[in-house]
Amino acid sequence: METKWLLLLTMAILSLLVFVQGDEEMSSVKPIVKIVKGKKLCDKGWECKGFSEYCCNQTVSDYFQTYQFENLFSKRNTPVAHAVGFWDYHSFITAAALHQPKGFGTTGGKLMGQKEVAAFLGHVGSKTSCGYGVATGGPLAWGLCYNKEMSPSQTYCDESFKFTYPCTPGVSYHGRGALPLYWNYNYGETGEALKVDLLNHPEYLEDNATLAFQTAIWRWMTPVKKHQPSAHDVFVGKWKPTKNDTVAKRVPGFGTTMNVLYGDQVCGNGDDHESMNNIMSHYLYYLDLMGVGREEAGPNEVLGCGQQKVFNPSSSSSSSSSS
Ligand SMILES: *[C@@H]1O[C@H](CO)[C@@H](O)[C@H](O)[C@H]1NC(C)=O
Ligand SMILES: *[C@@H]1O[C@H](CO)[C@@H](O)[C@H](O)[C@H]1NC(C)=O
Ligand SMILES: *[C@@H]1O[C@H](CO)[C@@H](O)[C@H](O)[C@H]1NC(C)=O
Repeated sequence: METKWLLLLTMAILSLLVFVQGDEEMSSVKPIVKIVKGKKLCDKGWECKGFSEYCCNQTVSDYFQTYQFENLFSKRNTPVAHAVGFWDYHSFITAAALHQPKGFGTTGGKLMGQKEVAAFLGHVGSKTSCGYGVATGGPLAWGLCYNKEMSPSQTYCDESFKFTYPCTPGVSYHGRGALPLYWNYNYGETGEALKVDLLNHPEYLEDNATLAFQTAIWRWMTPVKKHQPSAHDVFVGKWKPTKNDTVAKRVPGFGTTMNVLYGDQVCGNGDDHESMNNIMSHYLYYLDLMGVGREEAGPNEVLGCGQQKVFNPSSSSSSSSSS
């Protein structure tokens, strides 16, 4: 009698285990699952917290591991680099954890997640590189070489924001971070969003790599202006182009992330634009190193933005970003 019950119980547990494992694609952390209005929501602890459908998918640390981070940024701790010992894998994953429940690296499945991480880091690598043509290991191996602007020529204080984001006396708002922030209004807006007093303490961004990555991922996940898509949205296909977008040659993909983040500094300047090609090259290089392969980046109209009209022309938004 008793053994029969035990057997039944064991079988029930076993089938439950098989179900759970089959359902979550060999992810390392078992999620806690909840069904709300027919939707499956998950919580995976520190890396993907708070019952979100995105947390049912693989998390960033499931498919992007320490050795891959080391491969992508292999020169960052060489003696000639400018932020030796600052950037590490752990701070990236800790920062990513804040945004994974909202879809960063967790939208659309593993391949899309890998591509998004490569795309985001492609921007970061390009903006923080000290690689040049004859650098050892090639110019693309030098991402995360900087964590701040080295010889700022000014303090980037825009007085027209004195009522919203007044400059703190004696403080400089030069470039800092993984997607470097410049200007008091950008420090102010970002600090407000992340609940960190960056307006009084912009130096936090060069003292704390987790915060530096967090602000960069926040920028990636957040539209620059209301009613516009974020870089994340355009990359993962969450954004549906309007007729105007189609006429402007703005299509979902990597090219439009450059349009969102940099506008006409990078986009709409033809296909030979140097900083556009530099950002693209980092993305392709990382796709290769992550084992995804650069052919996943798609054709040039999707990868680049040389032919696109920009969302925010700089003439009409010269002190952009805090509308
Ligand atoms: C989770 O991944 C699957 C593919 O494995 C994908 O179809 C689904 O859209 C993803 N969920 C979300 C919320 O993006
Ligand atoms: C770095 O920033 C993170 C995120 O804001 C914070 O949780 C952490 O305490 C900071 N570390 C230090 C040493 O201040
Ligand atoms: C589309 O473009 C036209 C002409 O530039 C403009 O008047 C209109 O407001 C735009 N529509 C949207 C939805 O942005």
